[in-house]
Amino acid sequence: MLFDSNYDLKDESETLRLAEFMATKLSPGMNLYLKGELGAGKTTFVRGILRGFDYQDKVKSPTYTLVELYSFEKFTIHHFDLFRFKAEHEWDDAGFREYFNKTSICLIEWPEKAGRILPEPDISVELSHLPFGRHLHLISYTPKGTECLKAII
Ligand SMILES: Nc1ncnc2c1ncn2[C@@H]1O[C@H](COP(=O)(O)OP(=O)(O)O)[C@@H](O)[C@H]1O
Ligand SMILES: [Mg+2]
Repeated sequence: MLFDSNYDLKDESETLRLAEFMATKLSPGMNLYLKGELGAGKTTFVRGILRGFDYQDKVKSPTYTLVELYSFEKFTIHHFDLFRFKAEHEWDDAGFREYFNKTSICLIEWPEKAGRILPEPDISVELSHLPFGRHLHLISYTPKGTECLKAII
């Protein structure tokens, strides 16, 4: 861990707003882990990031497909939900390794389900329930990640 910051988000709109702003500080090649129990707000956070890139359509939760792709002019966003991911040996067969490259941003829900096949994240987005709202803990693991977190304080 290089740097971290904490936020209390009182409703969904605050989650969306922070994620939307964070999007403006992300760059292609970055990987984000999204952690937290079911209903913590991981997919909501992804929706906010996509909005930050002007994507206003529906965001499908890739629970069964494992990944959804969003193509933009200069990069692609790969949204993974690995909750149902079982077989590590299928990772390469499915071509997932190639999804991590210089022209993509990978947003990964349930990274802990993939064991050690995943590359290290630049940022870990950790959400947890509060009596009213959600607590957000952002942690950076790379200089790029730190730069992003410092820009949104
Ligand atoms: N800051 C917040 N406070 C209260 N509710 C929130 C907040 N952020 C998101 N939510 C709500 O919590 C639920 C989270 O769902 P979702 O994003 O699908 O969670 P996950 O992907 O972690 O399972 C949604 O109903 C969303 O509206
Ligand atoms: Mg989800």
